[in-house]
Amino acid sequence: MIYEKVNEHDKEIESIKKLVHDIDRRHSVSDKEGEFLYNTAKSCIGKGVIVEIGSWKGVSTIWLGKGSKKGNSAKIYAIDPHTGSSIHREMYGKIWTFEEFKKNIKLAQVEDIIIPIVETSEEAAKNWNNKFIEFLWIDGDHSYEMVKLDFNLWSPFLINEGIIAFHDVTSFTGIRQMVIDNIFKSKNFINIGFVGSIIFA
Ligand SMILES: C[S@@+](CC[C@H](N)C(=O)[O-])C[C@H]1O[C@@H](n2cnc3c(N)ncnc32)[C@H](O)[C@@H]1O
Repeated sequence: MIYEKVNEHDKEIESIKKLVHDIDRRHSVSDKEGEFLYNTAKSCIGKGVIVEIGSWKGVSTIWLGKGSKKGNSAKIYAIDPHTGSSIHREMYGKIWTFEEFKKNIKLAQVEDIIIPIVETSEEAAKNWNNKFIEFLWIDGDHSYEMVKLDFNLWSPFLINEGIIAFHDVTSFTGIRQMVIDNIFKSKNFINIGFVGSIIFA
């Protein structure tokens, strides 16, 4: 019985990998990081929603959506202005990722559980209406100031025992410093762990 469950889990993970490998993943989570998002979303019991800051073309959103659907179907608010970060605009010029994002989450059959908010995290926070958050996933603008802003705006809605996670902590000094200052040095966050470039608490 346990063996069958493990087998079923492995098959599901493999099928999600295939799905996301067809998407432009240049700025996205790795498979290992995606599996962490899947497992965390699956473990949400529904006391709050899941919030993603920074969706790009939907890779991390699909991992979250698939996990949540295997668990208690907590809704996922996917916040992104879809105009890229300043680094992306420097690299590619003008950016608009929303059409591809919508197409990808539809193909992955998770669009029923995802609520896209096409705004910056700052704009979205103004109309948030105090909904509780069980899992806060931050992968938006990677500068110290902007990650700190995301943290200040959204972490107050985390439930007790909620989970916060940041992407690209090992590769961006601003994020790393923000996490040191506000997670490592805080008494409010425990059970800190790493998966790839993600730090969670
Ligand atoms: C690294 S990409 C996200 C990758 C995505 N999580 C994945 O794994 O596929 C960063 C995204 O953050 C978005 N972004 C930039 N500034 C933002 C802000 N202030 N609020 C919300 N999203 C923002 C960009 O538009 C971009 O799509």
